[in-house]
Amino acid sequence: MTSAVKLCGECSFFQQLRSNVNNSLNSAATNMQRLFLPRRVRLKTIVLLAIAMTTVLYTVRIRLDSQLDYSMLEINDDKIDPLCNCTKILQQDREEMGRSKLIMITKSFQSETNITAEKYIEWTANCEKFKVFRKYLTFPLSPEEENFPLAYSIVIHHKIHNFERLLRAIYAPQNFYCIHVDKKAPPLFQEAVVGITSCFENVVISSRLETIVYGSWSRVQADINCMRDLYSMSSRWKYFINLCGQDFPIKTNLEVVRKLKSLRGKNSLETERMPARKQIRWTKQFKVVKGAIVKTDVNKKPPPINSPIFSGGAYILVRREFVQYVLENPVAHKLIEWSNDTYSPDEFLWATLQRQGDVPGSIPRSYRYDLTDVNSLSRLVKWQQYEGQESKGAMYPPCDGHHIRSVCVYGVGDLSWMLQQPQLFANKFDLDTDYFATYCLEKHLRHKALAALK
Ligand SMILES: *[C@@H]1O[C@H](CO)[C@@H](O)[C@H](O)[C@H]1NC(C)=O
Ligand SMILES: *[C@@H]1O[C@H](CO)[C@@H](O)[C@H](O)[C@H]1NC(C)=O
Ligand SMILES: *[C@@H]1O[C@H](CO)[C@@H](O)[C@H](O)[C@H]1NC(C)=O
Repeated sequence: MTSAVKLCGECSFFQQLRSNVNNSLNSAATNMQRLFLPRRVRLKTIVLLAIAMTTVLYTVRIRLDSQLDYSMLEINDDKIDPLCNCTKILQQDREEMGRSKLIMITKSFQSETNITAEKYIEWTANCEKFKVFRKYLTFPLSPEEENFPLAYSIVIHHKIHNFERLLRAIYAPQNFYCIHVDKKAPPLFQEAVVGITSCFENVVISSRLETIVYGSWSRVQADINCMRDLYSMSSRWKYFINLCGQDFPIKTNLEVVRKLKSLRGKNSLETERMPARKQIRWTKQFKVVKGAIVKTDVNKKPPPINSPIFSGGAYILVRREFVQYVLENPVAHKLIEWSNDTYSPDEFLWATLQRQGDVPGSIPRSYRYDLTDVNSLSRLVKWQQYEGQESKGAMYPPCDGHHIRSVCVYGVGDLSWMLQQPQLFANKFDLDTDYFATYCLEKHLRHKALAALK
């Protein structure tokens, strides 16, 4: 908070200085007009004076800008920092990690750090203050990032605090964000999302909201709704990224941009041979009954494409033209329509489109081009069944948090490992599980992003 005040103080100092210089420039021009000089000479003098003053003003401005202290944009929470040293946590310091876990289970810590929907509604009544106080970036950090805008679709249904932290971590003014809020989310939650999005021109709530049923078509429809909104919002963005409320970036925006550029126009998503046990998902018809998806005995027609169905995940990194294909291509429309009564279409639709020859950014159909989840850049996930001792063949060290549906909800002990992985985003994070995992990660990324400015 102190640094936020400092930020504002310095801003107004610069504004004051600039307006002082401007004022003296104006009054100088007025004085010139009063001089009894021939008209032509008067004009020439004014022009010369204006050029001189502009030069002076420009130099002053450059000098002021280079003196801007970006440290006020660091994620430094005066209440949190004395409790726990994030540098030590990222270095896997056992004592510090143990200490952080003891602090987090105290009731007082939990109530101090929890930010409720009501709080967000209150704060976002004054957007300018909210943005400064929450340290949102309000300018692109580099021309490279400015020239490579990204489009995000974020699907959420609860835990407003997690969502706002995620948005802050990935927010940049040149990017575009579409938020899909589950229709069945509590009204207070929805209101808080409206409050937060209303503070940013480039963040919108999806124009069509779905009631999301786990495993059903509605999950894909939510992303398609956001694809449509983002596609019409701007023609500038280069890649589409979809996230959920419990994801968090593990790369800075600049690193994300560079990783995407290195794909050279390809998409990055899991797409591989369909295991036989999953084929039931689209050989039988499924339907939603009372908010849950159920299998029927009705056989489905074969898919309307002449390729196999591929297996993959819900999270994708795809170029703009892929999104255009999804929205406009008749083949895509047929596949989408055919998929809408299957089980978990998010886990095969994108993967199958990625293997259609005419899809922009796709890869060849041959199974030798299969891309597994660990080789795609879109999402880092720790599955319980693959955890263990790496020296004994496990894929990754054990989860330091706990599991939800066999997926690790990260703890501070996972951070060091996570930051060495190639993916751009990781799943799952939860402030209620491990506040410091999110806090230290965000602090690290913001520091890295600001350090690149120097
Ligand atoms: C945090 O730990 C690092 C590494 O041990 C140390 O260099 C730094 O001074 C510590 N920071 C604070 C505020 O104690
Ligand atoms: C699936 O597509 C069919 C044909 O367009 C449509 O009638 C039906 O409402 C769709 N179902 C869902 C769940 O979107
Ligand atoms: C934070 O507040 C929300 C809403 O009041 C509540 O549901 C949640 O359990 C709280 N979390 C913690 C860690 O206290």
